Amino acid sequence: MVKKTAIEMRKKSYAPYSNFCVGACLECTDGKYITGCNIENSSYGATNCAERTAFFKAVSDGITHFSRIAIAGGQRNGALQICPPCGICLQVMMEFCDPDHFEVILGDGENDITYLLRDLLPKGFGPE
Ligand code: THU
Repeated sequence: MVKKTAIEMRKKSYAPYSNFCVGACLECTDGKYITGCNIENSSYGATNCAERTAFFKAVSDGITHFSRIAIAGGQRNGALQICPPCGICLQVMMEFCDPDHFEVILGDGENDITYLLRDLLPKGFGPE
């Protein structure tokens, strides 16, 4: 379900510059889902990735405990592609998640691969 919700969120993606549409579904430790999509900007550097949208929505609602995130991305009218989080998103995850337990679910529409945050950002800098 977490993956399906991420795929569904691609419809909300605002990606007129790259046409690469990404959806994310962040699961909180209480089971609640917080969704996100990428939001691009004509000043490209102001773009926000789907993962950070979900995290910032959650934190701004007072939620700071998370168990996993599913990410679904690909060209607007194309197939899903494996879409690993960028370095900035991994750093945001490091701030709020235990890298030994937080799961990042990636998929191309056929196979899902689940990584631990520490696999994607080994020796990452964190708050502790
Ligand atoms: N993007 C995400 O939203 N998440 C990722 O994991 C990688 C990239 C977005 C940023 C930009 O809007 C588009 O995908 C192309 O890089």
